[in-house]
Amino acid sequence: MERIREAIEKARHERQSAGTQRQGQAGTGGASPVDGTVTDDWISLPQFDVNPKSLRRNRIMTLEANPHATPFDVMRTKLLHEMRSKNWRRVAFTSPGTDCGKSTVVLNLAFSLARQTDLRVMVIELDFRTPSIARMLQLDDGTNFAKVLSGTAQPRDHIKRYKASLAVAASKDTPNSAELLHGTKAAHVIDAIEAQYQPDVMLFDMPPVLVADDTMAFIDQVDATLLIGAAEASTLDEIGRCKQELETRTNLLGVVLNKCRYPETS
Ligand SMILES: Nc1ncnc2c1ncn2[C@@H]1O[C@H](COP(=O)(O)OP(=O)(O)OP(=O)(O)O)[C@@H](O)[C@H]1O
Ligand SMILES: [Mg+2]
Repeated sequence: MERIREAIEKARHERQSAGTQRQGQAGTGGASPVDGTVTDDWISLPQFDVNPKSLRRNRIMTLEANPHATPFDVMRTKLLHEMRSKNWRRVAFTSPGTDCGKSTVVLNLAFSLARQTDLRVMVIELDFRTPSIARMLQLDDGTNFAKVLSGTAQPRDHIKRYKASLAVAASKDTPNSAELLHGTKAAHVIDAIEAQYQPDVMLFDMPPVLVADDTMAFIDQVDATLLIGAAEASTLDEIGRCKQELETRTNLLGVVLNKCRYPETS
């Protein structure tokens, strides 16, 4: 067990050193948002379009700058600052239980980040139990990133690009999801995708921590994690247990309390 942990730490360190070298070459002093390198593979990803009305129905408000997007733009700025200073690239989003708003936050943050056109942002849906990104973005084209993780399909067939800066890998219901996420194959697939497409930021939409072990199976592959709780649904005890578990294994960026209701002002 200790040997596995050491190997994971070494892999993470090597990943981060590679990032440092990229930064050094670019001479920006920032995280890789950065050298402006766009790989041919990124450019040749098949494209999708969005329906702004349907996005709004799904509470995705960040396609354009507007007052509803501001909280996510603030989160974007803080996240980028933290990632640049630590040379991080991969962030996981999880929650204590289901329905806390992870996918909504991930997509809002992704579109907000993608408005910075010098960035390449990749969203990867690893919630194989209640996948929702295809529905939220109206991607009804059969893409299923689980097939890429299992090694039965190529990334280019299951990742779609929106405009220049955002790529999305949506998934479908998949059995044995914890096993898929646990394997060293998953780590290699994600490493290979990062090397091939060179996204500056990778956002992973994960399942809840207290529902299954999928997230903890994968957590060593990310640099940092954001925990999303739902007001009136996640208890303090649940949030505390998740925090404790996550902090032993990852850099916990913080806890976002979503779905807060404010009294009407007259
Ligand atoms: N801030 C919010 N206020 C009100 N409703 C919200 C908010 N954020 C998300 N929702 C709604 O809550 C529901 C669940 O959101 P979402 O699918 O993003 O959660 P999730 O944590 O990804 O769920 P799951 O665990 O099923 O993957 C959706 O109907 C979404 O529109
Ligand atoms: Mg979700």
